[in-house]
Amino acid sequence: MPIAIAIDGPAGAGKSTIARACAKRLSYIYVDTGALYRAIGLAAMRNNIEPIESPQVDELLSQIKVELSFNENNEQTVLLNGEDVSGLIRTPEASMTASRISAVPSVRAYLLDLQRSIAKHNNVIMDGRDIGTVILPDAQVKIFLTASPQERAKRRYNELVQKGAEVTYNDVLDDVIKRDYQDSHREIAPLKPAKDSVLVDTTELDFEQSVSKILSVIKEKL
Ligand code: DC
Repeated sequence: MPIAIAIDGPAGAGKSTIARACAKRLSYIYVDTGALYRAIGLAAMRNNIEPIESPQVDELLSQIKVELSFNENNEQTVLLNGEDVSGLIRTPEASMTASRISAVPSVRAYLLDLQRSIAKHNNVIMDGRDIGTVILPDAQVKIFLTASPQERAKRRYNELVQKGAEVTYNDVLDDVIKRDYQDSHREIAPLKPAKDSVLVDTTELDFEQSVSKILSVIKEKL
């Protein structure tokens, strides 16, 4: 049976960069499940559809195809109707839309099998909000990765500024707090640590320390 490592946690905890580095060292596939919700959010934005439970969103789901592909370096690309949208889904607006549309039950149902089937055939590190609780409840290792909202906002702000975005730290902090609330208060698959997860707080850890910590948790569990 392939090995599954679930890493859940709030926005900006460093899940994707840390999980990607760990996957590389273990030669596992790294799956960023947030990209799937972002791609559906982008489809809604493009079609001027409000990202809430509605017949319009259900109709949209019946018309789109969301896929993940992995190159020889195990790097992920997200495709929306065959178009590589990996870059387009990284704006603050796309983040907020993804968070809102991810609360729609039919959206979560739509993405369930896709996520499970990747883990069925590969050793994976999969990151998201409900991987350890809903998608892969039998994952051999479950980690809940977090950091203080201020630290997460600082990291996200630096990332956005580096990309040339015009944002203020306070706006980013507001977004982080709002997204935490939305992601952890929705009715279906809310963000919460799985009972058997290991909590890792990266507020005081730099990138290398975070990677080492996660790798040592994995080693201990496997
Ligand atoms: O990880 P991310 O910031 O790219 O995720 C974008 C949004 O998608 C996030 O605010 C909540 C949602 N999401 C989710 O509900 N479940 C997941 N497994 C991954 C992301």
